[in-house]
Amino acid sequence: MGMKKMLKIIWILIINFVNVVPLLLLAQNSPKDYLKAHNNARAEVGVKPLNWDPQLELHARLFVEKYMADCKKAFLDASLANKYGQNSAYSAPPQSGAEAVARWVKHKHNYDYKSNSCIDGTLNCLCYTQVVWNSTNLLGCASVECQNYEATLATCLYYPPQGKIPNQRPYKIH
Ligand SMILES: *[C@@H]1O[C@H](CO)[C@@H](O)[C@H](O)[C@H]1NC(C)=O
Repeated sequence: MGMKKMLKIIWILIINFVNVVPLLLLAQNSPKDYLKAHNNARAEVGVKPLNWDPQLELHARLFVEKYMADCKKAFLDASLANKYGQNSAYSAPPQSGAEAVARWVKHKHNYDYKSNSCIDGTLNCLCYTQVVWNSTNLLGCASVECQNYEATLATCLYYPPQGKIPNQRPYKIH
């Protein structure tokens, strides 16, 4: 094999390798992946699984695409938060959608069922309570690769949203 041909093959291998990374990320960005990550956490506290809603997915997609050029700005936008429940995750380095959900679920450690509030006095458990909110039954999520950093932005929308009445809990302990 000539040197030129070999170099060409090496380049093709490198280019394909670079292409594999985003594909792997995409592999965990399907509705099934988002649902599984949510519904495992819900099953743990005895709450019914969520169903995928294409309309919510569309709104989530429009939202993340709006902030593709500057992903961090998404956190200043509460325009959907009145109508839907919403969890967002900015991650650098990039993360899959399933990993973003796993981050919200981790906040379980910061939720105190007895006082129905976040242990550290912040709002840092509300992403978890939304994931497991009993009366929420619809989910739609989307994520994008950010253009300004090596990062991803994921958002999930929930309907109906988690309750905002102080003594309302996400689920019952029997
Ligand atoms: C969820 O809500 C349903 C319907 O209101 C209720 O019957 C059920 O006990 C609730 N489950 C939990 C775990 O809170």
